[in-house]
Amino acid sequence: MAFWFCIGVALLLSLWSRAETAGIPDGVLRMECHDRYFMIAVDLSFTGDEPHFEAVDETGAYAITQQYAAQCGYSINVHPLPGHVELRASYFSCQTQNKDDEMFTFNFNLNVTQEGKEVTYPLQDKTCSPSVPWSPREVTCETNYMEVSVRSEVTCPSGTKKDDWNSLKPAHSSTTSDWQVMFQTDDEQLPPINISDARKQGYAFLLTEGRLVFRAPYGQPESFSTEVNGVPVETVHATIFSRQSWVVLMVDLVAACSMDEGLYNESGYMMWETPEMLYPNLDGQQINVGLQGELVAQPVAEERGYIVGKQNNTIQICIPENAEGRYRKSAVEDDLYEFYVYHLYLEQILVDEDRVETRIRSLRTLATPLLPSPIFAENQTVLEEHMFTVYLGDVPEDVQLAAVHLNGQEFTVPLSVSSLIITKVVHPNNTHGYKLKVPFEDPVVLQQFSKTDALHYILNINYTLTVLPEKDLYYHMESVVALVTDVSPPQFDAVCTESGISFKLDHRPFDYLWEITIDSDLLTSELADQHGYTMSNDSNSLLLEVRSSLTATSTRTYP
Ligand SMILES: *[C@@H]1O[C@H](CO)[C@@H](O)[C@H](O)[C@H]1NC(C)=O
Ligand SMILES: *[C@@H]1O[C@H](CO)[C@@H](O)[C@H](O)[C@H]1NC(C)=O
Ligand SMILES: *[C@@H]1O[C@H](CO)[C@@H](O)[C@H](O)[C@H]1NC(C)=O
Ligand SMILES: *[C@@H]1O[C@H](CO)[C@@H](O)[C@H](O)[C@H]1NC(C)=O
Ligand SMILES: *[C@@H]1O[C@H](CO)[C@@H](O)[C@H](O)[C@H]1NC(C)=O
Ligand SMILES: *[C@@H]1O[C@H](CO)[C@@H](O)[C@H](O)[C@H]1NC(C)=O
Ligand SMILES: *[C@@H]1O[C@H](CO)[C@@H](O)[C@H](O)[C@H]1NC(C)=O
Ligand SMILES: *[C@@H]1O[C@H](CO)[C@@H](O)[C@H](O)[C@H]1NC(C)=O
Repeated sequence: MAFWFCIGVALLLSLWSRAETAGIPDGVLRMECHDRYFMIAVDLSFTGDEPHFEAVDETGAYAITQQYAAQCGYSINVHPLPGHVELRASYFSCQTQNKDDEMFTFNFNLNVTQEGKEVTYPLQDKTCSPSVPWSPREVTCETNYMEVSVRSEVTCPSGTKKDDWNSLKPAHSSTTSDWQVMFQTDDEQLPPINISDARKQGYAFLLTEGRLVFRAPYGQPESFSTEVNGVPVETVHATIFSRQSWVVLMVDLVAACSMDEGLYNESGYMMWETPEMLYPNLDGQQINVGLQGELVAQPVAEERGYIVGKQNNTIQICIPENAEGRYRKSAVEDDLYEFYVYHLYLEQILVDEDRVETRIRSLRTLATPLLPSPIFAENQTVLEEHMFTVYLGDVPEDVQLAAVHLNGQEFTVPLSVSSLIITKVVHPNNTHGYKLKVPFEDPVVLQQFSKTDALHYILNINYTLTVLPEKDLYYHMESVVALVTDVSPPQFDAVCTESGISFKLDHRPFDYLWEITIDSDLLTSELADQHGYTMSNDSNSLLLEVRSSLTATSTRTYP
C-alpha cells in the first residue's frame, strides 16, 4: 500500500497535447495522451493511403516500418472508418524520452506525399504523464506486439545494487554481454542466447528508472500458440538472467494474449473472449472496457449495454451493436449491406496472493460480417392528388440518392425538372428517406387504357444510390401503378333557353384527359369568342351559351 501511496502523490493528470504543428491544416491532426500510450491520428484525406512516420530521438530519425514498429513499441493502424491513420506509441517505445517513468516525451515526423513531393511535418515534443500509476506488472496486447513491463525493485532480490542492472540499460551498446535470455515454449526450454542476439531476432529489452521492459512481435519462432478453453492464445515466455559473481539474477517475463477475432451473434452483440486463467495464480478480476482507447469500469459499461460474463473459465465481453464509439459502414455486394467496426480496449486487473497487481491491456479491432441492410420503397400515392408519391426509406446515412430512372428516362439528383419533386426526409435513427412526387399527366408516366374505361398510370422507378465515400452504386427498383376507373368522357348538360342552348359541364378530376373541341379546334375562350359563344369557366364548371343556329360538339380524343 505504501508503494501505491508514493506513486499516487506523483500522479499527474494526462496532458492533452494541442495540435499546433506548422503546415498541417486545422482539424486534420489529433494527438492524445492515453493511460498507457500516446496517440496521433491524422486524416487519410491529408496523408493519402500510405503515410510514413519516423520516430525521432537525439541519435536520429528512424522510419517506422512494420517490423521496426513491432520491435520498438509502435503500432500504426489505418482506419478507413472514420478515415484516419492512427499511430500509437507505447510509453516504453524506443525513441521516447523517459523521465523517472513519469514524464514521457515523444518526437515524430510525418511524411506525406503532396503533388508528387515528399513533405516532412515534424510533430515534436509532445509530453505525456500516465494518468494511472504503474502496476508492478503490466502486459499490453497491442495489435502488432506484446509488451510486458515489471517493476524492477520487485524483481530485484534484496541486496542487489542498481549497478547490477545497468548493463541492460543502453539499448544500442554492446555492453550487455553478461545478460542472457532463455525462451520457453509450451513444452521445451530453448538454449540461452545473449541479449544482443535476442535483439537481432526482433525482441526488445529495456531498463528504465524503475522498470524492466520486454517486447515481442507476434508470430516469433520462440512464442507459441495454444487454445485455452477454446480461445486462441499467443504466449511469449522469456527468462532473463545474469551471473554476478555468486549471485544469479533471474527475471521471468511472460506475455500471453487472447487472439480471439470476435464473434457476432444474431442478437446484435459482438463478443470477444479471453481465458480467465491466462496467467497462473492470479485472481480478483477487475475489468475496464471501452472503445477507441477509452476505458470505463465494468458497471458503467454495463449501464451502456455491454455484457461482461464468465463461461467455461472464459471472460466474455459482449459489445452492443450500437455502442458509442463503434463505426458503421454500408457496402454493396449485389445487395446493400452494412458492417460495424469496434476498436476494443480492455483492461483486466488481477492480483496474486500477495496482492501484487498485474494489469493486462488488449487492443483489438473487431468487425462484424456483412449484415443485410434492406431499404424499402412504399407507394404512398393518393389518387385524388393526381400524382404518384413514392417513399424510399431506411436509407443509411452514408448512402445518397444520385439519380432516378423513371420509365427508363434518367433524372439526376438534385432534379432540374420542376414538375418532379424529390424531398429528403431525415430520421433521428440515422436513416433517411426520399419522397418522390410525379404528376400522373407528366410525359414520363406511361398510360394504358383498358376496355372498361379504366386508365392505368405506370411508373417504373430505378433508384441509383451511391455508397460514400467509395461511390459504389446500388440500384433499387419499384413499379407503381395507379388505376383510375372512371375516365368516361365528360358529359355536357344541354338546356334549351329562349335564346339558344346552354351547355354546362361540371368538372371532374379526370376531365383533363379529354379535349373539348369545336369542329376540330380546341375550345378556348378566344375560339368561343370567334364563334360568338359566351363561355364562362371556373374551378367548378364550364358554361357555354350558344345562340340558336350555332352548335358545339364535344369530341372524344385520346391524350
Ligand atoms: C521522410 O522524408 C525525408 C525527407 O524527404 C526522407 O529523408 C525520409 O527517408 C522519409 N522517411 C520515410 C519514413 O519515408
Ligand atoms: C552473443 O553471442 C554471439 C554468439 O552466439 C556472439 O557472436 C556475440 O559476440 C555475443 N554478443 C555479445 C555482446 O556478447
Ligand atoms: C466449454 O468448453 C468446451 C471445450 O472447449 C466446449 O466443448 C463446450 O462447448 C464449452 N461450453 C460452452 C457453454 O461454451
Ligand atoms: C447474443 O449474445 C448475448 C450476450 O451474450 C446473449 O444475451 C444473446 O442471447 C445472444 N444471442 C444469440 C442469438 O445467441
Ligand atoms: C427509422 O425511423 C423511421 C421513422 O421513425 C422508421 O420509419 C424506420 O423504420 C426506422 N428505421 C430503422 C432501421 O429503425
Ligand atoms: C437500373 O439502372 C441501372 C443503371 O442504368 C441498370 O444497370 C440496371 O439494369 C437498371 N435495373 C433495371 C431493373 O432496369
Ligand atoms: C399504389 O397506390 C395506389 C393508390 O393508393 C393504388 O391504386 C395502387 O394499387 C397501389 N399499388 C401499386 C403497386 O402501385
Ligand atoms: C376550365 O377551367 C378548368 C379548371 O380551372 C381548366 O382545367 C380547363 O382547362 C378550363 N377549360 C377551358 C376550355 O378553358
